[in-house]
Amino acid sequence: MPDLSIEIAGVRLANPLVLASGIWGTTPELLERAARAGAGAVTAKTCTPGPRRGHRNPTALDWGHGLLNAMGLPNPGAEEEAGMLAEARRRISPLGVALIASIAADTVEGFAEAASIVSRARPELIEVNISCPNVAAGHGEMFAASPDAAAEATRAVKRATSIPCLVKLSPQVADIAAVARAVAAAGADGITAVNTLPGMLVDAETGLPILANRTGGISGPALKPVALRCVYEVCAAVGIPVIGTGGVGTGVDALEMISVGATAVGVGTAVAAGGEGIFARILDEMGGWMIARGFGSLAAIRGRAHRAPPVGRESNLPPVPGWRPA
Ligand code: FUM
Repeated sequence: MPDLSIEIAGVRLANPLVLASGIWGTTPELLERAARAGAGAVTAKTCTPGPRRGHRNPTALDWGHGLLNAMGLPNPGAEEEAGMLAEARRRISPLGVALIASIAADTVEGFAEAASIVSRARPELIEVNISCPNVAAGHGEMFAASPDAAAEATRAVKRATSIPCLVKLSPQVADIAAVARAVAAAGADGITAVNTLPGMLVDAETGLPILANRTGGISGPALKPVALRCVYEVCAAVGIPVIGTGGVGTGVDALEMISVGATAVGVGTAVAAGGEGIFARILDEMGGWMIARGFGSLAAIRGRAHRAPPVGRESNLPPVPGWRPA
């Protein structure tokens, strides 16, 4: 079996698969289940400084090409979350699996507060969710919408905790590379790219939106090409490591993410659809694919899209300037 281990923001993972936030991240038992099933790291559901009820049902729908969800960040608040994270850490640390806390807030101060509270549980990493498309921040738009706001939230978290932080970006911005550069300059230790992409489904009979929130975030297979493009642009722009997330459900999907420059690979909707066996399946497929093609490590695959001409086309495109393996 090829070496699938990676390092992200100083944390060594046995393999690059990360349970994405929002799937199974609400209890220590579910996080442990993903860890035992083969994830290299597991991310908790996002918490906010105070508790949030979330949106009314219906909040999620499988529309055949992935999920559309607008949960509205339901969570018990950072204090209770810190207790949940401490118990999750107690269960998964002996397995050699890293725990990632996830925080969001309406204000810059709220990001600092949530970061400081969840840090008590000593997760290996903190994901800073500035990109939930289903709730408006205090200033009316997500922090990920502007490089300046994204950098401010990042700086606040960095001041509040010594735990390495990964900032989660949105695909719904004009220039994701600019946001990535801003958070990297503000001290982010890594980036998660990307959150869901806003979308909508309507019931033809009633003519009404299906989700109670009317719009929601698209995840799963429909998001994959968007996520690959975003990760490609982010990796060309910054040298910090990236967790590539969006539509990964097979070993080949995961290797494509690594080809565009990702260090690790988030798996979310595929876990909801396929259950915990998905981690072992993806890892087996990655190993088999790599053996068949003579790749001994992920380092040899990472970033190939930045060097190679488009498949099947004559091209003398130069490599993207500035890209280097994280
Ligand atoms: O609505 C939600 O809870 C989604 C959160 C997210 O995508 O960050």
